[in-house]
Amino acid sequence: MAVTTMPSLDAHRLRADFPIFEQRFHGKPLAFLDSAASAQKPRAVLEAMTTFYETSYANVHRSVYQLAEMATEALESSRETVRGFLNAASPREVVFVRNATEGINLVAYAWGLSNLGPGDVVIATELEHHSNFVPWQYIARRTGASFRILPLDDGGELRLDALDGLAGDGRVKVVAVGVVSNALGTVNPVEQLAAWAHDRGAVVVADAAQAAPHRRVDVQALGCDFLAVSAHKMCGPSGVGALWGRAELLERMEPFLLGGHMIRSVGDEASSWAELPHKFEAGTAPMAEAVGFAAAVDYVQGVGLDAIERHEHELAAYALGRLAELPWVTTYGPPADRRAGIVSFDVDGVHPHDVAQVLDFEGVAIRAGHHCCQPLMRRLGVTATSRASFYLYTVPEEIDRLVTGLHKARKVFA
Ligand SMILES: Cc1ncc(COP(=O)(O)O)c(C=O)c1O
Repeated sequence: MAVTTMPSLDAHRLRADFPIFEQRFHGKPLAFLDSAASAQKPRAVLEAMTTFYETSYANVHRSVYQLAEMATEALESSRETVRGFLNAASPREVVFVRNATEGINLVAYAWGLSNLGPGDVVIATELEHHSNFVPWQYIARRTGASFRILPLDDGGELRLDALDGLAGDGRVKVVAVGVVSNALGTVNPVEQLAAWAHDRGAVVVADAAQAAPHRRVDVQALGCDFLAVSAHKMCGPSGVGALWGRAELLERMEPFLLGGHMIRSVGDEASSWAELPHKFEAGTAPMAEAVGFAAAVDYVQGVGLDAIERHEHELAAYALGRLAELPWVTTYGPPADRRAGIVSFDVDGVHPHDVAQVLDFEGVAIRAGHHCCQPLMRRLGVTATSRASFYLYTVPEEIDRLVTGLHKARKVFA
């Protein structure tokens, strides 16, 4: 008989790695259900950054003294770690950026401005985060390309059947899609979308800000052309992320930001650009942040991305089950097995901000608002939702505390 070993994760034990959980809020232990906005940091990440500052800190790439070489080595070995995490073919394809938003803007400006024009079509999805929606809407408008939105079905999943009609007889040049929705948790069929886009000669810009913390992200398997992540959502520091792009595309692109480090030579009339990835890394690099990013990659890989994904499915199923017991709560999005650990919901007659405020007094931190997804909110017919999001340190007891808090919110406001 075959024995299947399921990856396991002990969230109670992992919590001990995170100093934030030693603190109390409103006199209560912290139930942090807002990891989709930004994740908490384990000691391993904080210590890696402190050690870098204490032992290896100098500006990178610019000096020949030993300390600067150590700093450069730390930055480049962090790049190699991120390369491995994304399964990119080469570190030349991994550009350090401030965050996923900056990575996508880099592509929209540096690729979009030179490759889009009248008659071209840019498609973004109805559940896109503004980060992978607004830059494309803006660049399409500037270049005269047509900007179109791929709709959702009532279950919160992308309507791939609408693609051909949406494209019409336009030249589709870009398909912008999130790998995982930050508002509904939907896991999108990026591979299928990429196959359709490539048949039409379009590039696929994948926003993996919400996927990278929670499941394996393999740029080669996804079949996309560009992909952006933020370190802060996956236990790393704020201020750093990565843009991956196919080398042949990055090579043909103009730079996005200009200044120090990204040049080969500077003449009085014109300048030429450095090799990849440096062409896209103007100015002093986020050095300590990159070191922290690599430590975060090591940490989540140590826990195991398959185990994290399974843990979140279990939590999502538990949360959807508990919320289903409350007839005055509406949940949005697909079933648990089709989503990451994110649950958006509404409490009848209580504004999400009021829900979040009552929960805060219970030590439960959730997000209330449009989640940077106004097109999706319009589709759902709401202006805002409450959102609970889970991570590797989330335990089911926190979901119980959420439910208890919702009863209180209803009592106070409804
Ligand atoms: C799906 C998704 N894309 C992009 C972003 C933007 O991330 P950042 O603010 O780190 O650029 C977020 C952040 O909430 C997100 O959830």
